[in-house]
Amino acid sequence: MHTQPLTASTAFQALRSQYALVKNRRLAELFAQDPSRFDTMSTKAAGIFLDYSKNLLDDTTMRLLLELARERRVEAQRDAMFAGEKINFTEKRAVLHTALRAPLEADLQVDGQHVSRDVHAVLERMRVFSDRVRGGDWTGHTGRAITDIVNIGIGGSDLGPKMVCRALRSFAHPRLRMHFVSNVDGHDLDAVLSQLDAETTLFIVTSKTFTTMETMMNAQSARRWFLQHGDAAGLAQHFVAVSTNLAAVNAFGIDADNMFPFWDWVGGRYSVWSAIGLPIALSAGFDNFAAFLQGAHAMDTHFRSAPLETNLPVILALVGLWNRNFVGCGSLSIAPYLQDLELFPAFLQQLDMESNGKHVAADGVALDVPTGPIIWGSAGTNGQHAYFQLLHQGTDITPLDFIAALKPNHRLPQHHAALLANCFAQSEAFMCGKSADQVRTEMQAQGIAAADIEALVPHRTFAGNRPSNTLLMDGLNPATLGALLALYEHKVFVQGVLWGVNSFDQWGVELGKVMAQNIQSELLAPAAQPERHDSSTNGLIVLARAAL
Ligand code: F6P
Repeated sequence: MHTQPLTASTAFQALRSQYALVKNRRLAELFAQDPSRFDTMSTKAAGIFLDYSKNLLDDTTMRLLLELARERRVEAQRDAMFAGEKINFTEKRAVLHTALRAPLEADLQVDGQHVSRDVHAVLERMRVFSDRVRGGDWTGHTGRAITDIVNIGIGGSDLGPKMVCRALRSFAHPRLRMHFVSNVDGHDLDAVLSQLDAETTLFIVTSKTFTTMETMMNAQSARRWFLQHGDAAGLAQHFVAVSTNLAAVNAFGIDADNMFPFWDWVGGRYSVWSAIGLPIALSAGFDNFAAFLQGAHAMDTHFRSAPLETNLPVILALVGLWNRNFVGCGSLSIAPYLQDLELFPAFLQQLDMESNGKHVAADGVALDVPTGPIIWGSAGTNGQHAYFQLLHQGTDITPLDFIAALKPNHRLPQHHAALLANCFAQSEAFMCGKSADQVRTEMQAQGIAAADIEALVPHRTFAGNRPSNTLLMDGLNPATLGALLALYEHKVFVQGVLWGVNSFDQWGVELGKVMAQNIQSELLAPAAQPERHDSSTNGLIVLARAAL
């Protein structure tokens, strides 16, 4: 990894000067001056088209950003990741989620492990199992076919499979209802259990570590519920596990035959391609899961081989870094104009914020530029009627990633034209804004009195010049979805390399976990504990103890 801070790099310093030169330019003018801007600033790979022309970029800025990528050795770091080097240096682990979607012929071997062979052996087990459940051959203990599948997991063991099952609902098996329980809030599990028949329910306990408090508590409660409503002898037909921790899975009461393993070189937020994707194979079918992996592999191949100038993940990362470190934007809004991708912003939130929410570089020295932006958003057009007001006229500039499919999976074509029209109109409106003169002319044409016009002009003008990317797929299907996810994974990776952080650890989640354990024991202790905290935390504990 780098030892030199990003700000010391020649290209970064040149970009600072470049920003001073271009910061007052208008995006609309850049388009007016260059009719080929859309062609120059768009590119396509693995079924994903990216238009990044509506960002405050010109040829010089792009050239300098690409120089920055070269100076920061993005290509060498990328190759190190694919080769299985231990780039997650704080945990001394390789980062090989790309191996989960590579063909068997890749024949990757790392540290004596036949990675490709092991990956494909588990895939084969997933295929057999999902075919049996879908075909009604794997039954509950009374011989009835499975109707409900409950994934119990949290973070990467929940967000990926839940988002993908939701995104591919057009491909879902008609008999299988998918449920995802993540929160330790008992309302989550209780609401799901109340819909279930123990005879026809399959629980998947999904946890890389098999120690995560929320998942273990939910799994134990689900097990107790099953024993009350089912037959202890039939437990094996109703509980399977996905984990790296065989001993803990065994201790829970699930044996190796019903456990789908993966490996410590798969990070939780990068694990949807592993056995963590079992709910996807069950819901959409194994062939669709395989197509999802192939779509991601196509993006991997592009990322490894395309020149930086046309490399989608690299471009998306550089544009993001420009908006973060030069334009000064603290957040990125994800706007999928696809209801089926409504959970995509939440998935990306973990992927990006858990990866690049870091404050020190590889050498432990504090960074002198901001890193990962806050990722948030929801499906369009809904967001337009909620928070887009702030994005259009608020005082902060928030870049957006618009994501859409050219063809829908439904049979209401007129809806799709309306959806796409709104998507394209929003990016145009964010870019062009509306000047005071335009507002005046419009209001004069409506016959509004001059005094009223002047009072309203400031309220009805839009500054514009707000940056966005637009990503288009031909249609939302397993392969394009796989490519889209892989694109964002690699974008996050490239940004981590540029900033010089370790994108693959997550020490920041530990502190609160440990403190929660202490507070939980204080809440449940038979006698009040001496006050150990600040007056706020003590006061809250006292209130809760009285109610519990
Ligand atoms: O606490 C954060 C985290 O470790 C995530 O990185 C991970 O995806 C999640 O918890 C769940 O972890 P596990 O799969 O081990 O239960």
